[in-house]
Amino acid sequence: MFSRYKKPDTSKPKLVEVPKPSASEAAPGVAPKPSASRRQPTKTAARVVPMDKEKKRKERLGEVKVELHKRLLDNLNLSALETATEADLRAEISAIAGEALDDMAIVLNREERATLNQELYDEVTGLGPLEPLLKDDTVNDILVNGPQQVFVERNGKLELTDTAFKDERHLLRIIDKIVSAVGRRVDESNPYVDARLEDGSRFNAMVPPIAVDGSLVSIRKFKKEKLGVDDLVRFGAFTEEMAAYLQAAVSTRLNIIVSGGTGSGKTTTLNALSSFIDDSERILTIEDPAGLQLQQTHVGRMESRPANVEGKGAVSQRDCLKNALRMRPDRIIVGETRGEEVIDMLQAMNTGHDGSMTTIHANSARDAVSRLENMIAMAGIEMPLKAVRSQIASAVNLIVQASRLQDGSRRMVSITEVTGMEGEVISMQEVFRYQRVGLTPENKIIGHFTATGVRSHFSERFKMWGYDLPAEIFEPFEAR
Ligand SMILES: Nc1ncnc2c1ncn2[C@@H]1O[C@H](COP(=O)(O)OP(=O)(O)OP(=O)(O)O)[C@@H](O)[C@H]1O
Ligand SMILES: [Mg+2]
Repeated sequence: MFSRYKKPDTSKPKLVEVPKPSASEAAPGVAPKPSASRRQPTKTAARVVPMDKEKKRKERLGEVKVELHKRLLDNLNLSALETATEADLRAEISAIAGEALDDMAIVLNREERATLNQELYDEVTGLGPLEPLLKDDTVNDILVNGPQQVFVERNGKLELTDTAFKDERHLLRIIDKIVSAVGRRVDESNPYVDARLEDGSRFNAMVPPIAVDGSLVSIRKFKKEKLGVDDLVRFGAFTEEMAAYLQAAVSTRLNIIVSGGTGSGKTTTLNALSSFIDDSERILTIEDPAGLQLQQTHVGRMESRPANVEGKGAVSQRDCLKNALRMRPDRIIVGETRGEEVIDMLQAMNTGHDGSMTTIHANSARDAVSRLENMIAMAGIEMPLKAVRSQIASAVNLIVQASRLQDGSRRMVSITEVTGMEGEVISMQEVFRYQRVGLTPENKIIGHFTATGVRSHFSERFKMWGYDLPAEIFEPFEAR
């Protein structure tokens, strides 16, 4: 755990020089091209045969695959699949495929054959064309826009892949396989679903007619190895100094909101921040769906759920939160505040469950506060704006802004303290920020983190709790 700065009984914390990431561990934003372990069916042929021939061959291979898949479904004893060992099943598939290829008088080289067998195996046991992408660790998100278009996100950038489904029916079959495995249903009358896959990945699908050009699928892959504070510092998401400050903030139980856009790294940041919580504390987490991975011993996890097909049994994040308050939490962590649970979250923060954290979808610290105000208004609470604001100002201490920049790098672009109210307005001060200075010819952003030079509103508190942060931490970049 990142505890270099924990200092209740030691002297001044040491600033450790951040090692430059080596090629193999560089930040996704500046990462080297991943060694592509993805399936690339006919790439070898591509180099030796002219384009149109290769295209025809690819099409032919596609047809062969469909035909083979049909034969497999006819010939395989599907009910025995559950109990078959992987080796048996692979052997069986390879035998049936071999026979069929002979029948069709098609000759494939070894590599093509291995690829085909793997694809058929994925089709029978897994999620078909999605399977290699799910296994590829360099892929963060998988986004399907109808059967012929599959994008992935790597290193913060979207890329179109050559993965495709045979047709909409094929795609629907895979979607159905996924959702029925988690006891859900999706069809014309129930055209969208949000679920968590067995491996923890987040899955959302919307099918026609609501999805106009074919089913839309989004998968946020679950990373077993969550990025920790050290990783994020190494990747340039924030600096050692900011990490020291955040450690003091979490340890001294400030209430923290991580704000950011979609996929900006909010959950990752929240997870990393939670590593600063002391192991002796009782932490309750509420999510929709669950994705946090806390390292502490004493963690109670809750996951809200939608209503079932009869429209019953919904348990909202707000229900979980209300119940959590009766469960003697030391800290409450809400994965993402997006609705009426905001009321209970602020109340919890204001009434003794300090040190609570959540994320919110917003583009700046100011925007995060407006979002909170809006959520309160939407929850039907009729309170004068000033009262709402003073609730927010006394509940929230710190807003951490995560952002995915245009070059794909994810950075903590701002750390802002909420200092109170000035008249009708919530007053805030930015303590750290990411300063952009330019762009390289390759469109990589040039910039640096800097303190703004203001003295932390919480420095006395930090000191009292034994976190005497060195003054240099708060000096602007230029002053060093
Ligand atoms: N600083 C970072 N460097 C590299 N990769 C990161 C960084 N932060 C997050 N990621 C990766 O980016 C992806 C999105 O991160 P995360 O799930 O935390 O975003 P989010 O803001 O919570 O997204 P959403 O809005 O969908 O909930 C994840 O795969 C995560 O591993
Ligand atoms: Mg998230």
